[in-house]
Amino acid sequence: MILTVQLLLLLTLSLRTDGYYRYGVDECIFSSALTDVEFIRTIYFNKAPYARFNSTVGEFVGFTEYGVKQAKYWNSLPDLQQMKGELDRYCKPNIETDYSEVLVKSVKPTIELQSEQQASGDHPAMLMCSAYDFYPPAIDVYWLRNGQKVTTDVISTEEMADGDWYYQIHSHLEYTPKSGEKISCVVEHASSKKPIITDWDPSLPESEKNKVAIGASGLVLGIVLSAAGFIYYKKKSKGRIL
Ligand SMILES: *[C@@H]1O[C@H](CO)[C@@H](O)[C@H](O)[C@H]1NC(C)=O
Repeated sequence: MILTVQLLLLLTLSLRTDGYYRYGVDECIFSSALTDVEFIRTIYFNKAPYARFNSTVGEFVGFTEYGVKQAKYWNSLPDLQQMKGELDRYCKPNIETDYSEVLVKSVKPTIELQSEQQASGDHPAMLMCSAYDFYPPAIDVYWLRNGQKVTTDVISTEEMADGDWYYQIHSHLEYTPKSGEKISCVVEHASSKKPIITDWDPSLPESEKNKVAIGASGLVLGIVLSAAGFIYYKKKSKGRIL
């Protein structure tokens, strides 16, 4: 799970009638385990990014002809040393604050893993993993087959707002069942430092078991009633003959 803290930084705001806009965005990008923290400053003109400082790289990199020139210039300034310090000065303390003040308000999702379609003939099976009622919306949902991440035959929705600050998301996996295979749905979210892993149980789910039980009881009741009816009829007809 990757989390980002953003700060909008107005470098020069040249608002003219035609509204040109140059701005920078500072980001601290970190994993939920708090390892691999990165400081990124991206400079935009209108909406297009043209240069970026990445603390892992240690200098500015330009994306356009102008950006490349600017990056070269910024890299030659003594300010570059300060940029290199932003990771420790700005990111690390802010991440601590975010953990203690913001992420404690996160709400853990409820996970449901169900079969949408059983495998039959040429049709593969379809599983659906749903995460309900979580906050904030940033979330990763993926599948494991025997511990390996599945990269094909997966369709996921976007995070969908329930309208009450909570969100839901659904991921579908199409697969051909093989015996002894283990399928799991993994959810990574700010509310949990560890990935939430749900294993698929291929035996019939509870609701299906209930349907089978109701059907079987109906059948037994039917047999008992018709047997009783038959015996009654036999007795009656025997009585008439006598
Ligand atoms: C920063 O640079 C590292 C190393 O090249 C790269 O792996 C990472 O994706 C970059 N981060 C961003 C946000 O571009």
